[in-house]
Amino acid sequence: MKDIDIIIPLKAYAYDELDERSRALVDAARNATKGSYSPYSKFKVGAAILLDNGVTVTGANQENVAFPSGTCAERSACYWAGANYPDARFEMIAVASVGTDGVECEPPTAPCGACRQALLEYEVLAGHHVPVLLVGRETIYRLPSVQSLLPLAFTEF
Ligand code: THU
Repeated sequence: MKDIDIIIPLKAYAYDELDERSRALVDAARNATKGSYSPYSKFKVGAAILLDNGVTVTGANQENVAFPSGTCAERSACYWAGANYPDARFEMIAVASVGTDGVECEPPTAPCGACRQALLEYEVLAGHHVPVLLVGRETIYRLPSVQSLLPLAFTEF
């Protein structure tokens, strides 16, 4: 038997400490929360994905009266990107959220398990690590890759 520790490398930034490209993606994710349709949870999530063609694609959570039929912000963004820019590869992802009190969350919200798996598909397609920015009111967590958010992921069969 041996112990194996899996460490998730995470950096915490203030907005002003980020480079310009990251700040622009943070702005896009925050702005995308405005597209949230969340009358049931009243929890708004916005996601922004920078593609290697320079385009930034955004998405927001879309709920449904039949709860499981809704979708998260991350999946609405990555599936939009996949459907509309099938040849483009992901460069960076940002996720922002606004809580039921109407205030941006702090600490940042992290993607659910299903969204981690969905995003990982596009990181594998890109063939390189895709950094993820989790955007909070004060703190922005930067993970080096989607893979780092989903240790021991199911990637091949
Ligand atoms: N939600 C997201 O959009 N992304 C996640 O990764 C977790 C949760 C949404 C789903 C639902 O509309 C609301 O947040 C509350 O769970």
